[in-house]
Amino acid sequence: MKAAEIRATFLKFFESKGHAIVASSPVVPGDDPTLLFTNAGMNQFKDVFLGFDKRPYSRATTSQKCIRAGGKHNDLDNVGYTARHHTFFEMLGNFSFGDYFKKDAIAYAWELLTVHFKLPADKLWATVYAEDDEAYDIWLKDIGLPAERIVRIGDNKGGRYMSDNFWMMGDTGPCGPCSEIFYDHGPDVAGGPPGSPEQDGDRYIEIWNNVFMQFNRTEDGVMHKLPKPSVDTGMGLERLAAVLQHVHSNYEIDLFQALLAAAKQAVDEAGAGDCDANSPSLKVIADHIRACSFTVCDGVIPGNAGRGYVLRRIARRAIRHGYKLGARTPFFHKLVKALVAQMGEAYPELRQAEARVTEVLQQEETGFFRTIANGMEILEAALAGGQGVDGDTAFKLHDTYGFPVDLTGDVCRERGVAVDEARFNELLEEQRTRARAAGKFKMAQGLAYSGTPTAFHGYEHLVCETSKITALYVDGSAVDKAQAGDDVVVVLDHTPFYAESGGQVGDRGELRNATSRVSVHDTLKIQADVFGHHGSVAEGELKVGDVLVARVDGEARAHTTRNHSATHLMHKALREVLGAHVQQKGSLVNADRTRFDFAHGQALTAEQIAEVERLVNAEILANAATDAAVMALEDAQKSGAMMLFGEKYADTVRVLTIGSSKELCGGTHVQRAGDIGLFKIVAEGAVAAGIRRVEAVTGANALAYLQTLEDRLAQIASRLKVAPADAGHRVDALLDQIKQLDKELAAVKGKLASSQSDALVGQAMDVSGVRVLAAVLEGADSKTLRDALDKLRDKLKSAAIVLAAVDGEKVNLGAAVTADLTAKIKAGELVSFVAQQVGGKGGGKPDMAMAGGTQPAGVPAALASVKDWIAQRA
Ligand code: ALA
Repeated sequence: MKAAEIRATFLKFFESKGHAIVASSPVVPGDDPTLLFTNAGMNQFKDVFLGFDKRPYSRATTSQKCIRAGGKHNDLDNVGYTARHHTFFEMLGNFSFGDYFKKDAIAYAWELLTVHFKLPADKLWATVYAEDDEAYDIWLKDIGLPAERIVRIGDNKGGRYMSDNFWMMGDTGPCGPCSEIFYDHGPDVAGGPPGSPEQDGDRYIEIWNNVFMQFNRTEDGVMHKLPKPSVDTGMGLERLAAVLQHVHSNYEIDLFQALLAAAKQAVDEAGAGDCDANSPSLKVIADHIRACSFTVCDGVIPGNAGRGYVLRRIARRAIRHGYKLGARTPFFHKLVKALVAQMGEAYPELRQAEARVTEVLQQEETGFFRTIANGMEILEAALAGGQGVDGDTAFKLHDTYGFPVDLTGDVCRERGVAVDEARFNELLEEQRTRARAAGKFKMAQGLAYSGTPTAFHGYEHLVCETSKITALYVDGSAVDKAQAGDDVVVVLDHTPFYAESGGQVGDRGELRNATSRVSVHDTLKIQADVFGHHGSVAEGELKVGDVLVARVDGEARAHTTRNHSATHLMHKALREVLGAHVQQKGSLVNADRTRFDFAHGQALTAEQIAEVERLVNAEILANAATDAAVMALEDAQKSGAMMLFGEKYADTVRVLTIGSSKELCGGTHVQRAGDIGLFKIVAEGAVAAGIRRVEAVTGANALAYLQTLEDRLAQIASRLKVAPADAGHRVDALLDQIKQLDKELAAVKGKLASSQSDALVGQAMDVSGVRVLAAVLEGADSKTLRDALDKLRDKLKSAAIVLAAVDGEKVNLGAAVTADLTAKIKAGELVSFVAQQVGGKGGGKPDMAMAGGTQPAGVPAALASVKDWIAQRA
């Protein structure tokens, strides 16, 4: 039975038992910051199990895309080397939300396996949680499974409820005891039954897990009873297919055959020649293209943090395995096509994203191939000694050559040597410390500061009357004093100036007292809570300890603030209009505009842009008050605030609510949404594969933008001498008129040319008994040339004719020869002879041929040469 048929049989079976067939959710879980990737079919129903969400059905069945490469369920390192580990796999599942429970769940599983999939009952085993007598009795009495094939498994993983037969999604969330079904591959295969010391062998394979959801585990470890006992099951499609297709490894099932073949071909073509078709590396590649493609398809871009980092690791692992087989040029992205052919029907979103996925992976791969080539050379040199790799080399590879340490580790493992990880980590930590101290800006680099931190008063105030200078820097060095003309960095004990962070630029403004004045053009952090005011001393002098009035440029700040608040509303609206895969990839907010980068594959349509603008402006009009609340990170997560994945947040965070948006943010914001005034998107484009950038303006800037547009329209209308509202119609009418005039012009040209051609008859001359005409026909296009040639041929009866017309930089040529002469003189050759002399070429039939050229200046000489050419042939 093919995998596609197994998938369909499973879903149909449960549909016949009253289950709704529900589509797979994306591999990137919606707003669940506790989960890196979707790792089980039940993820999309988590809130239903917890009683927070209701669905129109109480039974569901799915074929769910899952990724287990990071987080609690992580199989990455096993992939390729075992028969059944994958980073990506499909989980078939049936779910009951307070509907049926253990009895029906077990009965359904048994019926499907033995009746529909026709597995022999005597090859099936079941496990139950040691304390679950109910499940044990169902197997024994209802199903009739002999007691020796029902195994009780208790807390075998070192703690209460830590058991192979107690399933948890993660450290928190719905969980419960489970009953697993095993298939016995027979005594020829090594391994013992579940619960025995030999259970990890390949003889007894778990094929289905039935979880009886009964609890919600909270972070404190407490198990809270769920409102209604429920069922969550999961069966790996690939494993079941292996059983039903009588093979021992998942990689031998039909789903993988085409991918393995495509992987071999791509690797061979990329330089391997003819690699070993049984190499585990091909399995790694075939597995990883699935994980990578579905991850990119669902909105992840390779990067250095969070999901993007996991994606990058998987992609790079696959690429390195290709490299190991001999591939020296990008091959990995080429497999997307084969994957779409295999899985595009079951998961149409993959087919839709094919071009984008290919492009994203190709970009990643091209970059990494450069890295890998350099890195491997250095690594091979280090390994030549046979001693393993020291921490300094591993760090140099990582830091200077971008060669990931896990790849160094992989290579070392294969050669049976070690990497000095302790030393590597030490060097990494040193580097991080240096980077932190250096700060991200040149001016702030290396500024040493050990005084009191800066208290930020800028959420409430734009002016602080008594800010005290705690440090001063000129040219990067700490000084006690600075004078007029000096470029300085001033650190204050408290300040209203916002220091650049979270995409919002630093404030500008002024520091002054009775005698001195500093004009501040930017504010940047020297350390997390030490603010450097960058500026120049305009008057007087400054000393550490001086007290100043610090005044932010209120107007610039107000513009920036409006733009920042609008960014939150826009982020929310983009997710609403385009989908939840929209994730922030970068932002810049200053006084002029907001610039927002996010993961999305296609250009936004005019309608989508208009809809985003409409949603944001509706929030502005609703004019809700902004709320900023400082709370524990955990509470912020619970409140559903948007956070950036992979970002490190402090234990207490600031949750900013504007209208319907809720985000973690330390920036400055408007008091009410209405303060934004007006929101308008002014640009949309691509910044990288799979990443779009939208720019927008607010308030007075939005008004100015619209006024400029209106101005331009008014100018156009006035030139058209109509009211602005009628300009479109007027332009349409003008375009029609131009079309009409073009037609008329062509007709006139035709007439002109044909009257010219009459005059040309007289110019024909005799060359060795052949009448020859070589002339210019002013203003003719190729159609007119052809008509004229026809006409002249009729009139001259027996002749060879060449006509040329010049149109700007272009030369049109045509030749015609009457039938009585074509044995000796061919129009095609004639026109080609002429065309060569005016930088072109052409040819055609013996009686009529056309050509073009690019050198109008050569036309007279070329035409003059025709006589001799004919003379040689006549
Ligand atoms: N959620 C259960 C599992 O993943 C079915 O094994």
